[in-house]
Amino acid sequence: MKEKVENIKNELIKDLENANALLDVQNLKVKYLGKKGLVTELTSNMRDLSIDEKKEVGMLSNETKNFVTHELSKLEEKINNLELEKKLASEKIDISLPSTKVEVGVENILEKLIEEVESLALSMGYDVVEGPEVEKDLYNFELLNLPKGHPARDAQDTFYLDSDTTLLRSQTSPVQIRTMLENKEKTPIRIICPGKTYRRDDDDATHSHQFTQIEGLIVDKDISLANLKATFDIIAKKLFGEDRETRFRPSFYPFTEPSVELDISCFNCGGKGCNICKGTGWITVGGAGIVHHNVLDNCGYDSNKWTGFAFGFGAERLAMLKYGITDIRTFYTNDLRTKENFDRKDAE
Ligand code: DAH
Repeated sequence: MKEKVENIKNELIKDLENANALLDVQNLKVKYLGKKGLVTELTSNMRDLSIDEKKEVGMLSNETKNFVTHELSKLEEKINNLELEKKLASEKIDISLPSTKVEVGVENILEKLIEEVESLALSMGYDVVEGPEVEKDLYNFELLNLPKGHPARDAQDTFYLDSDTTLLRSQTSPVQIRTMLENKEKTPIRIICPGKTYRRDDDDATHSHQFTQIEGLIVDKDISLANLKATFDIIAKKLFGEDRETRFRPSFYPFTEPSVELDISCFNCGGKGCNICKGTGWITVGGAGIVHHNVLDNCGYDSNKWTGFAFGFGAERLAMLKYGITDIRTFYTNDLRTKENFDRKDAE
């Protein structure tokens, strides 16, 4: 009997070594513990044994059964673990692989500048307003003190859409008219208006037939050039740095009297003179002045009571200076390479 048990154990050890699948475990269970299994057979002739022999055979066969059951369940667990590992390995997601590249967009550089001016203006008590790009000659010229035939119209010769009453606005100044007409002596008025403008022009590094302006208007009591100068100074310093100087140069615009050109000391040479400022030390960024009494009267504001100043910046001009852009066409040609340069410039 003992020999039989030894044989079963030895055979089981060999079988265990060769088993490598759950099916093998199943077959081994049948082979050893099944109805006709090797362990079951140990007790097949119990009937013919004496009580003492029965005891011994019973003990031995129970012990063998426990041994086999234990070994087989160990084997089953081992194979289960192996299969799980295999499954995990085959279903593993390799997170070290590079993912699909998603291009991240950046804000348009002109838009960014406009928003910067807008939030600055809002902090100074201005409202941001918009006007239409298709405008009436009446608002674009006539009520701005530029009657038909006025020679100053030539500088802003623009695109007429029907006969001579509707046009693509040549400046954002008509928004001044629209705002005053809507508000009729509701003061103070403090607005800025960014937007596209169109006029016949050369298309080169510094000119474009379409460009962007940022218009400003204040109507209140006792407004003087000093208020305009202080406002311009704050805007210039906030946009270009505390060390920027500003100056007025006498000029002419039909809708302001007196009129001035707005100059900022050159960001490149600090005022000494270089090729960017053409040796003058100054860069012109727009026009401005004290609102002409005719414009106030045209819009229903008694010019004996009300005063105001107005300004118009070239938005591309400001952005070119801020980001060191030398060609205005950069804003319109959608060259994605420039976006990286601007990003870098901004991070400096
Ligand atoms: N509209 C002028 C232009 O396009 C710019 C300008 C000058 C606007 C003086 C103003 C101003 O409001 O007061 O050239």
